[in-house]
Amino acid sequence: MDKLKITGKTALHGSINIPGAKNAALPIMVASLLSENGLLLKNLPVLQDISTMKLLLESFRIKIKHINSQTFFNSSNIKNHIANYDLVRKMRASILVLGPLIARFKRAKISLPGGCAIGTRPIDIHLTGLEKLGVTFSTENGFIFGEVKKNLVGAIINLSFPSVGATENIMMAASLAEGKTIITNAAREPEIEDLAKCLNNMGAKIAGAGTAQMRIEGVKSLIKTDHSIISDRIVAGTYVIAAIMLNNKFKISNIDPKLLSTPLKVLQNMGAKLDIGNDYITVLPSNTIKGTTLETKPYPGFPTDLQAQIMALMSIAKGQSQIKEKIFENRFMHVSELNRLGANITIKNDTAYIEGEQKLKGAQVMASDLRASVSLVLAGLCAEGETTINRVYHLDRGYEKIEEILGKCGCKITRIK
Ligand code: EPU
Repeated sequence: MDKLKITGKTALHGSINIPGAKNAALPIMVASLLSENGLLLKNLPVLQDISTMKLLLESFRIKIKHINSQTFFNSSNIKNHIANYDLVRKMRASILVLGPLIARFKRAKISLPGGCAIGTRPIDIHLTGLEKLGVTFSTENGFIFGEVKKNLVGAIINLSFPSVGATENIMMAASLAEGKTIITNAAREPEIEDLAKCLNNMGAKIAGAGTAQMRIEGVKSLIKTDHSIISDRIVAGTYVIAAIMLNNKFKISNIDPKLLSTPLKVLQNMGAKLDIGNDYITVLPSNTIKGTTLETKPYPGFPTDLQAQIMALMSIAKGQSQIKEKIFENRFMHVSELNRLGANITIKNDTAYIEGEQKLKGAQVMASDLRASVSLVLAGLCAEGETTINRVYHLDRGYEKIEEILGKCGCKITRIK
């Protein structure tokens, strides 16, 4: 298993161009299942999760072709409607194929996604929503089987929680349902808007994406289109936090800062100096960074996907901080590893209490999930001496060539195979 070796306390200089967003790319790749006419995607990031999604789509006999930096998905000849255990267990986003497969082929069979490091992550909201559209589900031998007798029929669906994945699954299925669907308490994440934009280009009729109430007028079929994936706000936020921790001038380009309004406000309130343009954020050195209190929330609140990274920053900020994790029940796996690097964090129920101004020191640590891993990279970059991060395959799921990018910007970070 690959490891990363980091020598801390080096400078971070120059700039980084933010790649396409993993969490927009995954559902949009799945949207190719909805049309037999093909979908051309630009700005797909080069990540392990994207490769896993390609394998899953290929297992349905979708043909995927790379043309320069674009990827063409041809799903005219789908033969299989079963998503097998090996792929689903690798990536929970596999559940997103459920709605589209049923919408197009009236049935789908998917290995039940289990829990993962960050929580039990049930799929009840996906299933209840699809049931409202007329799907009946049964489970056997670890698989969930969904089918609809005739066509999906539009409905009013009130989500019990604004689940990102459930909103995506239901909106994709509803795009090919008969009549009108209204989703209330829908997730409002920018990745949902990007999916709606792509589906609308394919001929779907979706209004209200990015708000809590979406209206979807079903259509009979979808056409060929091309779409460029939005930039990754979480990757951008991660590099913003890295530069604040190293207290260097650093430019994060090719990102719409509006997508990061809440985290940027929190960072500015902590004392970070940011020059925010239309499509870039430049971190400037600041005199003091002080602790704060925050809660993770659905968009536009503070994203759970930046919780581990800001916790690393809070460990070296002045004073005390608190983070209440409200999205996932077990997303504090990085705490014990950050403490190994010299942080002083305790957890009580859903809240982490962080004592600031700790002198971080290099150590051997273990990555446990994607965002936990990157928080260890950030802490390692600020720690005195050498840090070795084990199990970096978690990191490869969401950060494109992180050691090359940070290495080019002055950091000492190498991969050990
Ligand atoms: N939930 C349920 N029932 C459901 C669906 C969700 O109880 O049917 C619960 C989950 O267990 C969780 C909460 O609702 O506690 C939020 O889950 P949500 O469905 O919103 O998340 P997701 O679609 O599984 C996406 C991202 C995550 C990100 C969350 C929250 C993708 C592929 N994944 O997951 O990204 O943390 O939204 O914003 O879009 C990451 O990139 O590191 C990552 C985990």
